[in-house]
Amino acid sequence: MAASSTGREAFASRAGFILAAAGSAVGLGNMWRFPYQASEGGGAAFVLLYVVLTLVLGIPLMLAEFGVGRRAQLAPIGALRNLAGRAWAPLGYVFVLAGLMILSYYSVIAGWTVRYGFEAAFTGFTAAPADHFGQVAAGADAAAFHVAFMAVTILIVVGGVKGGIERASLLLMPMLFVIVIGLALWAATLDGAGAGYVKYLKPELDELMNPDVWRAAASQAFFSLSLGMGGMLTFASYLKRDQNLPESATVVAFTDFGVAFVAGLLVFPVIYSFALQGAVGASTVGALFIALPSAFQAMGEMGRIVGVFFFFVLAVGALTSAISLLEVVTASVMDEFGMSRRRAAVIMGAAITVIGIAPAMDTDALGLMDKIAGEFLLILGGFALALLAGWKLRSEVRDELLAGASPFWQRQVPRILTVLRWVVPPIVAFVLIFSLRETAAAIIAFFSG
Ligand code: PHE
Repeated sequence: MAASSTGREAFASRAGFILAAAGSAVGLGNMWRFPYQASEGGGAAFVLLYVVLTLVLGIPLMLAEFGVGRRAQLAPIGALRNLAGRAWAPLGYVFVLAGLMILSYYSVIAGWTVRYGFEAAFTGFTAAPADHFGQVAAGADAAAFHVAFMAVTILIVVGGVKGGIERASLLLMPMLFVIVIGLALWAATLDGAGAGYVKYLKPELDELMNPDVWRAAASQAFFSLSLGMGGMLTFASYLKRDQNLPESATVVAFTDFGVAFVAGLLVFPVIYSFALQGAVGASTVGALFIALPSAFQAMGEMGRIVGVFFFFVLAVGALTSAISLLEVVTASVMDEFGMSRRRAAVIMGAAITVIGIAPAMDTDALGLMDKIAGEFLLILGGFALALLAGWKLRSEVRDELLAGASPFWQRQVPRILTVLRWVVPPIVAFVLIFSLRETAAAIIAFFSG
């Protein structure tokens, strides 16, 4: 049964929690999806829409998770059962399922980044990056890197909240910030930088009338902020009541946006200075694993150095996100079955590793899992969380958001609750319908050919 709150693990420092939450948020989504979606979805208009959605949906929903998690001092399944009643416990299982599915393919992509980092360091990039990516993206090699990446993730989660997650975040996140900013500054010195910025940010306001751009932006916000699967909820369950939750959520959300935005300032100049826009093609991974490696290859020695840093940052971002995905699953099993951390992390981590063999062997399976779990399940979870925090647990969440908050942030709490009650549910319901359509179409396409 549920562990008692007195013996529960806890973060040792305020910064430790914030960097762990930022570590969950900042990941492949920032560098793999954001720049590409912005350039496709209206440039600066998309960025603006994204910031608005971060404020209106992202921060309130992150606070719904923070509030419920810290209140319950339990992982999602137990938290929902204890606070909201048995009928809500299944939502906890949806969260665990989402975490499990996302990590199983996320780790495969993370494995690619590790592989490319090694290539940059030891062999150099090939002259035919598209063929090369085709050869290594799926198959035994991809599976091997996925297994290795999962092993590291499991090790850190076994280390616990303070000795594993917090320590890794305090070490890795500052490093990531410095390298990303350094790389973007370097990219600004490239010849085609201007054309790259234009492609990335040229505002196309009519895109804002397109509901699909809204769906894409909202779904990007959920994925990038790690919302809708109980990750933020689980991390907050390791907090004492002195943490300023509204302020923490704001810092985490803007850190995440900042890294995504700067990633675009890095990726586009590199691609445009080598006229590789064709290689980006229709796929989001094309930019990272095909266009950038060809640019790095064309730069010779310098490209290899930059490549090492670039893929190192991707792998680090992926690792701190993977930790949070595994932690949701691990903490749920610990709380539900009274299992030790070590056993829960190893057993569930091994199960996820095995499931991940499927996306490691087949990139179409990977894409489908991303649609189902990375998009649809997160939006579904976010919708339920908004109803929970805005209606059913309103007073509990209000208490929790007030506790530890400074007077300024306490004054914002009623506004946040109003947004959770009246603004978030209708917007997310709208997005959910479009996402359901998209996901259904993707499932049909997958099985019909
Ligand atoms: N936010 C992570 C990223 O942008 C991915 C993630 C999604 C992590 C959901 C945890 C939960 O890469």
